[in-house]
Amino acid sequence: MNDHVYDIGTATTAEVLPLRMSVLRRGTPSRDPRYAEDDDDRTIHLVARRADGVIVATSSWLPRPFPPEPDSAGVQLRGMAVDESLQSRGVGASLLAAGIEWARDVGATNVWARARDTALSFYERNGMTTVGGAFTDDATGMSHHLVVLRLG
Ligand SMILES: CC(C)(COP(=O)(O)OP(=O)(O)OC[C@H]1O[C@@H](n2cnc3c(N)ncnc32)[C@H](O)[C@@H]1OP(=O)(O)O)[C@@H](O)C(=O)NCCC(=O)NCCS
Repeated sequence: MNDHVYDIGTATTAEVLPLRMSVLRRGTPSRDPRYAEDDDDRTIHLVARRADGVIVATSSWLPRPFPPEPDSAGVQLRGMAVDESLQSRGVGASLLAAGIEWARDVGATNVWARARDTALSFYERNGMTTVGGAFTDDATGMSHHLVVLRLG
C-alpha cells in the first residue's frame, strides 16, 4: 500500500478524460469517455495525483437518486479508474473513501454506482452492496450490477 504518496483533490473534465479513455474504454467498442453528467454543474471529479501533478486515478460524483428509490438523496459514482500500473495498491479505496465523505458532506443518504462485474469485489470489499440483477452497459457491452452504500 503506497496510496499515501498521492494527493486527492478535484480536477476538470478535460483533465480526467485521458485516464478514463485508457482504463475504461480499453477493449470496448466505445471511443468516447465522456458522460452527459460531465456538463452538470453539480458533478465533481475527484482524482489522485502524483507529486508531479499527473493524475493516476479518477472518479466522478453527481447528486442523483438511486434508481430503485427515485425519491432518495443519492450520489452516483461514475468513471472510477486507476492507472493500470498502480491498481491493487489501495489507491481506488482511498478515492472511494474521499467521494463517500463528499457525499456525506452534501447530505446524501446513499452512494451508488453501475459497477462492472469485474469490479464488484472491489466495491463489496469497500462496504457496498450489490442490488438486483445483471444488465449490459451500452458503452462497454459489459455485464454490470447496481451497487449501493447506505449513509447513516
Ligand atoms: C476497480 C478499480 C477502480 C479498483 O481500484 P484499485 O486501486 O485497483 O483497488 P484497491 O487497490 O483499492 O483494491 C484492490 C481490489 O480492487 C479489485 N481490482 C484490482 N484490479 C482490478 C481490475 N483491473 N479490474 C477490476 N477490479 C480490480 C480487486 O478486488 C482488488 O483486490 P485484490 O488486490 O485483492 O485482487 C481499479 O482496479 C480499476 O481501475 N480497474 C479497471 C477499471 C474498472 O473496472 N473500474 C471500475 C468500473 S465500475
